[in-house]
Amino acid sequence: MKILFLTHSFNSLAQRLYVELVRRGHEVSIEFDINDEVTAQAVELYRPDLIVAPFLKRAIPEAVWRNHTCFVVHPGIVGDRGPSALDWAIMRDCAEWGVTVLQASGEMDAGDIWAAETFTMRLAKKSSLYRTEVVEAAVRAVLIAVERFQHGNFKPQPLDYSRPEVLGRLHAPIRQADRAIDWNRDDTHTVLKKIHAADGFPGVLDTLCGESYYLFDACAEDSLRGNKPGEIIAQHNGAICRATLDGAVWIGHMKRKAEGEHTFIERERHCRSATCCAISLDRPTSRAPTKYEGSNEQFGLKLPAALLLGEHLTDVPEVLFDSFLPFIGETYRDIWFEQKNNVGYLHFNFYNGAMSSTQCERLRDAYLAATQRDVRVIVLMGGADFWSNGIHLNCIEAAASPADESWRNINAMNDLMRAIVTTGSQLTIAALQGNAGAGGVFLSLAADRAYAREGVVFNPHYKGMGNLYGSEYWTYLLPRRVGNEKAASLTQNRLPVGAEEAREIGLIDGCFGTDRTDFLARAEQIAEGLAASPDYPALLREKVARRERDELEKPLDAYRAEELQHMKLNFYGFDPSYHVARYNFVYKILHAWTPLYLARHRRITSARA
Ligand code: COA
Repeated sequence: MKILFLTHSFNSLAQRLYVELVRRGHEVSIEFDINDEVTAQAVELYRPDLIVAPFLKRAIPEAVWRNHTCFVVHPGIVGDRGPSALDWAIMRDCAEWGVTVLQASGEMDAGDIWAAETFTMRLAKKSSLYRTEVVEAAVRAVLIAVERFQHGNFKPQPLDYSRPEVLGRLHAPIRQADRAIDWNRDDTHTVLKKIHAADGFPGVLDTLCGESYYLFDACAEDSLRGNKPGEIIAQHNGAICRATLDGAVWIGHMKRKAEGEHTFIERERHCRSATCCAISLDRPTSRAPTKYEGSNEQFGLKLPAALLLGEHLTDVPEVLFDSFLPFIGETYRDIWFEQKNNVGYLHFNFYNGAMSSTQCERLRDAYLAATQRDVRVIVLMGGADFWSNGIHLNCIEAAASPADESWRNINAMNDLMRAIVTTGSQLTIAALQGNAGAGGVFLSLAADRAYAREGVVFNPHYKGMGNLYGSEYWTYLLPRRVGNEKAASLTQNRLPVGAEEAREIGLIDGCFGTDRTDFLARAEQIAEGLAASPDYPALLREKVARRERDELEKPLDAYRAEELQHMKLNFYGFDPSYHVARYNFVYKILHAWTPLYLARHRRITSARA
C-alpha cells in the first residue's frame, strides 16, 4: 500500500513505524504537519491508500479525513482523550497504559477504534516510556490496524463509554500548576513522578537560586539527606541533588525560563514566523557565528543543571563515586563498570545519548581503566534509552565559541573511538539497548562486534545536521562493514535503518530480544560464551593482526586527518549550514517544509519540474 505519514516531526515513533511498514512491503512517504493547505497538497500529490498520523499536535483537516482513512496513533488506552495522555498516566500512578489506533473524525481522539494495545507502566521518565513501551505497543497496534484495513472486512469499533472495558476518559491538558512541586509536602515518589511526567517536554517549572527553571532528568538518591526540602545538597558530574521531605532526588538537566517566556502555543506560532526561520548571521566571517538574528534564546536550552547554576554551586560539595566499585541502590551515575566472570560491562547512560567533550573524556578514561581489569571481553552497554547520538549539540550551542567546542567535542569523541579500535588486550562488544544516531552509530562500530535490541533504530548519517561531514573514523569503520556502495547510500539517503536491516546489510552482527531484559540476557550469554571459548586466543590474535594490516594499508591517523579537514570547514568555514542546523535542532525550530528525502511525493513533482 501507499501510506502517507502525517506527522509533527519524524520522531523516534514515526521512524520505527516507517522501518516496520517499509519492511512489510509498503511504500511510505512523509509529510510534516505544517498547515492544512500543505497537508491537502501532500495528499493530492501522493494519493495514498492510507494516512497514518504517528505523532500529531493538531487535528487533521476535515477535507482530508472525510475523503481518506486516517489512522491517528494515540498514546493512551481506549477511551482516553486529549493531550498529555502519558503525562496524566504517570501523574496518576496508572498500573497499565496503552496505545490506541483510531480513525480521525470530527472530534479529537473520539474516532472509531481499529486496534489497541496495552503495557505495564513503570516509574520512569515520560521520554523513556515513550521511546520503549509506547513505541513497541504502537508498532503492534499499527501493524494490526494496517492489516485489518488491507483485508477490507474489518469494522472499527465506535468509542462507547458504556462498555466496561473502556476505561479511558477525556482529560484536560495538563498545566504547570498541576505539575508544580510543593517541596514541603511532596514526598520523593511524588517529586520523581512529577518530573518524570514532564520529561522531554516541557519539564517542571520551579525556582532555584532566585530564578525559574524547568526540571528534567530526575532519579532517586538512596543515601544523601538534607535538612530543608528543596535545598541543593550535592552535585555530581553536572547533576544536582536536592533534599526532599523523606529523602533526596537528583536533577540532571534544566532549562532556564527567561523573562516573558511565551506559552507553547505562542512559541509554535512565533517559530513558524519569518524571524525565527529566516535566520541571518551577524558575523559572516571565517569564524563560526555564535548568535543569530531573531535569536530564540529566550526559550532556553536544556543543559546539565550544574552548568546552568554555575557559581551558585560554589559551596555545594561534589560527590565522588568510583565507577568501578559495586553499587547497590539508586543514585545519579552516568558511567559505571560491572564485572562478571571474565566479562566487563561498561555502562554510559548519557541523557538523550548526547556526549559532551568531558563525557567523552571520562568515558575514555573509564574504558582504558576497564582494559586494565582482568577481563577477556568488554561489553560497551550505552544507556537504557539511547546507545549514543554523538557529540552534545546543546553543550556546543551553549559554549562561548560553538565552533571551538564542536572541535573539542569531536576530537574527544575520536580519542575515545581510537582507544576502542586499537584495543589489543580484549575483545569488545557493543550492546545497543537503545537507538543510535550520527556519530553514535559509528561508536558502536568501533567494537569488534555489535548487537542490538530488535526495536533499535539506527541513523548512520550526519548530513541532516547542516551537511556535517562527520568524523569518528566513519570512513574507516562503515565501508569495512557494509562496503563502499552501501556506505555511500546510507550516509546520503539519511533514512533510518531498523535493527533487522542493519543485521542484513552487515552494519551489526545480530539483533534479538523484544525487551531490554531479554536483550541483555542474550548479550551476556554471547559475551560469556566468547570469553570462555577455546577460540578466544585465536580470535584476539586475528583481531590484532587485522588492525596491523589495516594500519599498514592506511593509518587511523590518516582517516582522522581527512575527516577533520572536512569538519574544520563545517565548523570554521564560510558555509554556516552546520551552525544553522544545530541552532534549529537544539531550539526545536519547527520545519517550514518537509525535506525531499522524506517526502517522496514531492520528489516526483520536483523531478518533473
Ligand atoms: N546532542 C544534544 N541533544 C540531542 C542529540 C545530540 N547529539 N541528539 C538527540 N538529542 C536530544 C534531542 O534534542 C531531544 O531532546 P528532548 O526531547 O529531550 O528535548 C532528544 O535528544 C531526543 O531526540 P529526538 O530527535 O527527539 O529523537 P529521535 O529519536 O526522534 O531522533 C535522531 C533521533 C538521532 C535522528 C536525532 O536525535 C538527531 O538527529 N540527533 C542529532 C544527531 C547528530 O547530528 N549528532 C551530532 C553529530 S555526531
